[in-house]
Amino acid sequence: MQTRRTILKSLAAGGALLGTPVLRSAFAAEDADVVLRLVAGPAMLPIRAGPATRGLRYTGEVLQGRSDALRPSRGTFGPTLELRRGERVRIEVVNQMREPTVIHWHGMIVPDAADGHPHQAVGPGGRYTVEFAVRNPAGTYLYHPHPYALTGAQTYHGLGGLIVVREAAERGIGLPESDHEVELVLQDRRIGADNQLVYKRMMMMDDMNGVLGDQVLVNGLADAAFRVAPRPYRLRIANMSNARIYKLAWSDERPFRVIGSDGGLFSRAEGVQERPYVTLFPFERVEVIEDFGARRDGAEIALISRQFSSADGMMGSMMSSMGSSGESGRRGMGGMTGGGGMMGGMMAGMMGGAAQGQELLIARFAVSPGSRQRARTLVLPEAGTPVPSGRHELRTQLAFQMMGGGLLNGRRFDPWDMTAVAEDERLPLGETSVWTFVNDGPGMAMSHPIHIHGTHFRVIERSRGASAELREGLIDTGYKDVVGIFAGEQVRVQLAPSIGGLFMYHCHNLEHEDGGMMRNVVFGSVAGNNRLG
Ligand code: C2O
Ligand code: CU
Ligand code: CU
Repeated sequence: MQTRRTILKSLAAGGALLGTPVLRSAFAAEDADVVLRLVAGPAMLPIRAGPATRGLRYTGEVLQGRSDALRPSRGTFGPTLELRRGERVRIEVVNQMREPTVIHWHGMIVPDAADGHPHQAVGPGGRYTVEFAVRNPAGTYLYHPHPYALTGAQTYHGLGGLIVVREAAERGIGLPESDHEVELVLQDRRIGADNQLVYKRMMMMDDMNGVLGDQVLVNGLADAAFRVAPRPYRLRIANMSNARIYKLAWSDERPFRVIGSDGGLFSRAEGVQERPYVTLFPFERVEVIEDFGARRDGAEIALISRQFSSADGMMGSMMSSMGSSGESGRRGMGGMTGGGGMMGGMMAGMMGGAAQGQELLIARFAVSPGSRQRARTLVLPEAGTPVPSGRHELRTQLAFQMMGGGLLNGRRFDPWDMTAVAEDERLPLGETSVWTFVNDGPGMAMSHPIHIHGTHFRVIERSRGASAELREGLIDTGYKDVVGIFAGEQVRVQLAPSIGGLFMYHCHNLEHEDGGMMRNVVFGSVAGNNRLG
């Protein structure tokens, strides 16, 4: 197996492939277009009426460059980073908390030295600086904490923010201007009568299902309400919940017109994806054109998460092992409480959260009267040039054990050797590979949102699994960095990493991730061919 020496060697190999300039060169202060500071610290959050909530918050400032590179969030969330494609960015991260932290730029293609891997976490009072050029296309990305075993708690208590990448190519193609964009960061929370956040309550259940709440915060605020003009808007919707899957729908049942996902806008060939509802797993994003001008003046509509039955978790598995799997079995058990049926609902009630699949109100929109502006024809960008296809394949089996937690090919993250890479967890650069995830490992039937750092991918195949009630809303179009994989399903993705180094892949259910359902992967160095340099 691997030793520290082979690891260091392979890391060096990854670097050598790229040449030193990419990984090591720090552009001088005057070369950075934008210099920011982000501080992670304790904060009193005005989440809802009544006493403020003790939590955590990112605050930030622009030290150099465009003053609009940081935009305060309307809620209690971290500031939105407004970056332009091609820009060189330097960010100083300051830890003012009493535990280690590190920031990961989720979905951003950055050198591994800037990625925010758990091994890069700094302790209380610590600070570090990262630098990267913005290579991503225009889109909606995220930043969030990524310290080993603490990601779930820190995110739950308020650390997180959006990254909006803009580029010239977005202008003049019929998109609403930035003053008609709405950011919707969705997070479910359990909030006590004293307005304080309740994180894990029943350890075993919460570690298994992930922490679920009964109230949805939008941009860190409860009871979100928006007043909108009767015209089209660009909605950027991000699920930053620890474990919640949303079945997004409008109360007036109008369909969604989805124009982009994790990795930016769809191509012209892919086109606008019209869906009756949108299924959004943790840390997935969608961009939607919503024409509020198609509603009558004064209309009040709600964005909700519709009820669905979920086979996830203890009750789901118990019920299927009792032979009452499938819809009929669940309906036969009452069918009134949603996710996991009556038993699931009871368990969730005991835990003070809402079960996976329970109907939830997300936000209200009121359409103010005014002159209507018609929707413009949208001309999506042409697809980029294809990357040469390679022959490399990876296969990962997902499993979740009641006592042992989540496993990837039977393995978990090694907190004692955080940069260890197995021989078979490597992919070449500059050509396409296919990575197959099969969610059929021994243990409990659960869905897992799988995320890969440092690259985007395309979903090229999804088997028919146990997802009938959510399938129509899956957005498997475009470039992704998270894909939800239902119990029993097999999903194949195609990827062509363009930046070499040590990255990771993991389940983005934050309690699964913290429990070790996470592994390293090296891009730019392939098993049997990793003696470069
Ligand atoms: Cu959004 Cu490794 O995470
Ligand atoms: Cu990531
Ligand atoms: Cu998982």
